[in-house]
Amino acid sequence: MAEGMFKALLWVLAATVFTMAGVARGQRVPCYFVFGDSVFDNGNNNGLNTTAKVNYSPYGIDLARGPTGRFSNGRNIPDFIAELMKFSDYIPPFTGASPEQAHTGLNYASGGGGLLEETSHHLGDIISFEKQIENHRKMIMTANVPPEKLKQCLYTINIGSNDYLNNYFMPDDQYNTSRLFTYNQYADFLIQRYRSYLKLLYVQGARKVALFGVSKLGCTPRMIASHGGGRGCAAEVNTAVEPFNKNLKALVREFNTNFADATFTYVDIFTGQTTLAYAGLGFAVTQESCCTVEQGEELCAANKPVCESRRQYVYWDNVHSTERANMFVAKAAFAGVITFPYSIALLGIL
Ligand SMILES: *[C@@H]1O[C@H](CO)[C@@H](O)[C@H](O)[C@H]1NC(C)=O
Ligand SMILES: *[C@@H]1O[C@H](CO)[C@@H](O)[C@H](O)[C@H]1NC(C)=O
Repeated sequence: MAEGMFKALLWVLAATVFTMAGVARGQRVPCYFVFGDSVFDNGNNNGLNTTAKVNYSPYGIDLARGPTGRFSNGRNIPDFIAELMKFSDYIPPFTGASPEQAHTGLNYASGGGGLLEETSHHLGDIISFEKQIENHRKMIMTANVPPEKLKQCLYTINIGSNDYLNNYFMPDDQYNTSRLFTYNQYADFLIQRYRSYLKLLYVQGARKVALFGVSKLGCTPRMIASHGGGRGCAAEVNTAVEPFNKNLKALVREFNTNFADATFTYVDIFTGQTTLAYAGLGFAVTQESCCTVEQGEELCAANKPVCESRRQYVYWDNVHSTERANMFVAKAAFAGVITFPYSIALLGIL
């Protein structure tokens, strides 16, 4: 209890700490590459044959560019990190990018993407983490980005949630993982995959890498409805993802030990997601979506009403967070309040 409260308060302080971080002028790293799922996607799914895309209103309602394919009302976490790293613009989606843009960075993330190839297959065509790494390999080759430059870039990865949401916790006639694995075995299985993908990225030049853990998926409106009896967080879901996060943190330690020329860091979103922290940050509605979501759905219904006070909501739709929640995570990760062992700001310096 005491420790939980302490961490929650630290999380609350993140915004303050960040403003004192002594921000230097100019871009802090020459390039920034983004990998992951819908939490990081900024348009890669728009042209795909998939239900996991959001290039329609009300998504992007708080963005000047309107609906872009970001799974939020406004900016997502990589957008805030790009701002904090003093990039003059957001990192463009890989889809439709020119090779030239690989010199400043690309976003390969895809809604529905997971560590396992079969994850989210019921959503149609999505880009798995393995395919994202392959896309990156091709882009940096085509663009001839110098290896020395690639080592200076920032890399952020948010992957693993869909291996739970759109695999393990799906009905077992659609996905067999919950029949094959206990929570611990599944977490081990996923991290084995993660390890081999991370080695590929390292070989491709990644040296400054932030790995985002899985959030409290059991507290998303979708999982509250399907696994939480409609009220309160689905405890089994949160219990299931905990060993994944624990393993991911250990994987970061392993890579920092084995690769002396690299800095990996783990971003803990899970621990800070407490009632107390939310209250301290001014979030009044923590278990309901801001936009209108039809019964049994997860994404916002097109052109339907949305809540007025979006600043008070944690969740934008039934799974994805609002811009304001994204901002707190990004700032806390940048300042090092929720990272182990390096802040993202420090990755840019080391
Ligand atoms: C899109 O996917 C669905 C099922 O996933 C399939 O039935 C349909 O033919 C696909 N459409 C195109 C244009 O490929
Ligand atoms: C489980 O499902 C995966 C992907 O659909 C398949 O490749 C694998 O063979 C299945 N395993 C078992 C034991 O049924």
